[in-house]
Amino acid sequence: MIDVIVLAAGKGTRMKSSLPKVLNTIGGKSMVEHVIDSASFINNARVHLVVGHQADKLKEALSHREINFVEQAQQLGTGHAVQMALPDIQPWGVSLILYGDVPLISASTLQQLIKLVDETSLALLTVHMEDPTGYGRIVRDRDDNAIAIVEHKDADAGQLAIHEINTGIMAVNNEDLVKYLPKLENNNRQGEYYLTDLIAMAVADGKNIRTVEPDSPEEVLGVNTRLQQAELERYYQYNQAQKLLESGTHLLDPNRIDVRGELVCDDGVSIDANCIFEGKVTLGENTVIESNCVIKNAVIGKGVVIKAFSHLEDVVINDGCDVGPYARLRPGTELANGAKIGNFVEVKKSKIGIGSKVNHLSYIGDAEIGEGTNIGAGTITCNYDGVNKHLTKIGDDVFVGSNTALVAPVEIESGSTIGAGSTITKSVPKDQLALTRPEQVHKSSWVRPTKKKS
Ligand code: UD1
Ligand code: CA
Repeated sequence: MIDVIVLAAGKGTRMKSSLPKVLNTIGGKSMVEHVIDSASFINNARVHLVVGHQADKLKEALSHREINFVEQAQQLGTGHAVQMALPDIQPWGVSLILYGDVPLISASTLQQLIKLVDETSLALLTVHMEDPTGYGRIVRDRDDNAIAIVEHKDADAGQLAIHEINTGIMAVNNEDLVKYLPKLENNNRQGEYYLTDLIAMAVADGKNIRTVEPDSPEEVLGVNTRLQQAELERYYQYNQAQKLLESGTHLLDPNRIDVRGELVCDDGVSIDANCIFEGKVTLGENTVIESNCVIKNAVIGKGVVIKAFSHLEDVVINDGCDVGPYARLRPGTELANGAKIGNFVEVKKSKIGIGSKVNHLSYIGDAEIGEGTNIGAGTITCNYDGVNKHLTKIGDDVFVGSNTALVAPVEIESGSTIGAGSTITKSVPKDQLALTRPEQVHKSSWVRPTKKKS
């Protein structure tokens, strides 16, 4: 088993966020959950999260995850933070130290790091940076062995010129943590207990420091500001887009797609610019998503076209359907094969049968519509009486004329026709015409008014 100690007690003042910093998101998922998810790829990992500022909010937000919360009431430094977790880690084995605000660390980098630890070695993740300002520097001896980390604020001119920096991420034997952490001192420029001082202590004891660099440098970038968050978001999104392209999805512009969750595309899927996918979305073979769609938690079948500016949430859309432009499909909408929802149509908690059409300007809520039915422009299901919601049932092969109000609960049986402009309050039997509009009158004596002279 590996103890994964994730530090997240700091305040994160510069984010100016009302949330604990590590709950701010990248790709729709909190930064700390990105870290926990990467750690979960390690066999037998147990996560300890060190919390301090807004600890209650963090515990609440992460209550669904299997983690051990460790309190660090006062933030006395990274070494002190890790020390708080010591009572909860195993007496032997290895600890991996991660940071809640370094979200994009990959499982593969972590695995490489863990491989380097043994009884005589500590493993350190380092990276070369063009501008190392602010970071701890990796000091090496003549034989190129890492022998110490010097914090920027404590470094001399020679050390400041070093470009290899400490990412903070390390893997250490638990016995070494127990041995060295209590010996840390805070007699440095920041008056903090530095975790990094562990390195020189271990070296003095004859231990080796083995280092490795991440697969890509963005993995070890921390987030302290909104700008850094936005930059990592772009990097993350471009990575997602690249994976989609590699798997054969046609993205008209990989710089203009946002995946905040999981998007699974079958062969031949095409996605135009500015679409946002949230939660879990699956798109079947040859489905086309036009520009500017927002799609959340949706199962979409083969050969579907979602036209521009449509919003979909918690929906199931079967093969060959046509939706939009400007359609809004709300939770509980289910479209059977070949159904068609046109522009400015809102559908909520309704089933639309095979080949049925709601083509223009309608509201369909709490309805079940059969096969081959046509709902005319401006049809409204009046599903709400001000207190309760009621069902509208419409059979197969029904024709509902334009501007019809269907006052639920009501049933329109198969084969019937509703005349335009009707307000239907009673169920309509099979194969009949129902209409409620008053008859048209003509008045031959009527004179059109003329404008008054003032
Ligand atoms: C630390 C490293 C530095 C490294 C840099 C990489 C130390 C002493 N220095 O510096 O070598 O280059 O990270 O980003 O470790 N935290 C706690 N409790 C504390 C202090 C910090 O939980 O008492 C958490 C913070 O929330 C933060 C992380 O640890 O997420 C890093 O702390 P911070 O003080 O920002 O470290 P740096 O000064 O950046
Ligand atoms: Ca600091």
